[in-house]
Amino acid sequence: MTYTINMDELLKINSDAQYLINETDDPKELDLIKQDFLGKKGTLTIAMKAIAGLPEDIRPEVGRLANEIKQDLEKKIEEKKQTQKDAKKNVSDSIKNESKTTISSSSTIDVTQPADFKSQPPLGHLHLVTQAIAEITSIFEKIGFARVRYPEVEWDYYAFEALNFPENHPARDDWETFFIKAAKDPKLGPMILTPHTSSGQIREMEQNKPPIRMLNIAKCYRRQSDVSHTPMFHQFEGLVVAENISITHLKGVLDYFVKSYFGENRISRIRPYQFQFTEPSFEVDVSCGVCNGRGCRLCKEGWLEMGGAGIVHPNVLKYCKIDSKKYSGFAFGWGVERVLMMKEGLELDDLRMLYSSNLDFLKQF
Ligand code: DAH
Repeated sequence: MTYTINMDELLKINSDAQYLINETDDPKELDLIKQDFLGKKGTLTIAMKAIAGLPEDIRPEVGRLANEIKQDLEKKIEEKKQTQKDAKKNVSDSIKNESKTTISSSSTIDVTQPADFKSQPPLGHLHLVTQAIAEITSIFEKIGFARVRYPEVEWDYYAFEALNFPENHPARDDWETFFIKAAKDPKLGPMILTPHTSSGQIREMEQNKPPIRMLNIAKCYRRQSDVSHTPMFHQFEGLVVAENISITHLKGVLDYFVKSYFGENRISRIRPYQFQFTEPSFEVDVSCGVCNGRGCRLCKEGWLEMGGAGIVHPNVLKYCKIDSKKYSGFAFGWGVERVLMMKEGLELDDLRMLYSSNLDFLKQF
């Protein structure tokens, strides 16, 4: 049987060969493909030989196509082999370069070269509230206050009852308390999220007898969220209990803190106020740093309100089984976020920014 060839046969041979070339990256396989199609006994070679037997009218056309296919396949195979070679070379060059840098960097490192900061990973830092807590702690530790930690999930007894709040007293509404869905304790009452650090006063006096010099810094929770309130915030609470403690000691500690934290030229003042757990009670103000107490747009009358303080109520001492005839004490409790804003002269449109994880804001501190 004589072998005949036509255009369709040639196109079929071409597509088979193209397919096989595309499928492989292996130079040896490419050589085999070349041999199978273009070698002495290759499919295309045999087909081309058969062209000679074709009728004269179609022979030139079929011949031209066969030649085109042959050249194209040869070119494709060569190109593919070259790409493989180049890729291999790039990999080995980069390995060589890597090992070169390690060798040369150990021998020729130039320590005076300025660092390439652009390619360094960004360095983080402590959140500004954490920074403030660390600073406040160190100021009070210098005058003998011991930092303590008490539970964030608290009993009503510690947050209110033992602090001289009668049950159902309207003053409890000021604390906007979160209640935990849990069974009431017969003695300690409902379980709550601690609404202020003053609960730490009771825990401290229950565990330790005077002299006491405590600094309780903790998260506090109240049902309030608006531009000037976050549902979670921080307070720092001081408590000093010993013999003959008076308002002058309180005033001395206030002045010391105000000068250490805000600056030497700042002073404090106390104004009469009302808290259930202190008698007398005060609101503490700090002279404004912008106008130095003269009065300006920020402070209006020269003073900025900082927080509460007072002389520990004898009933509170009694709850903790401390003899109120022998011992007296003072306490104060202020917001960390508040003093921090007063120090930085920050006027945040929305206090919730502090806890928003907005890096553009946080990076500034
Ligand atoms: N616990 C009070 C509050 O959250 C602040 C306070 C006032 C604390 C007077 C005190 C104090 O220790 O003596 O608003």
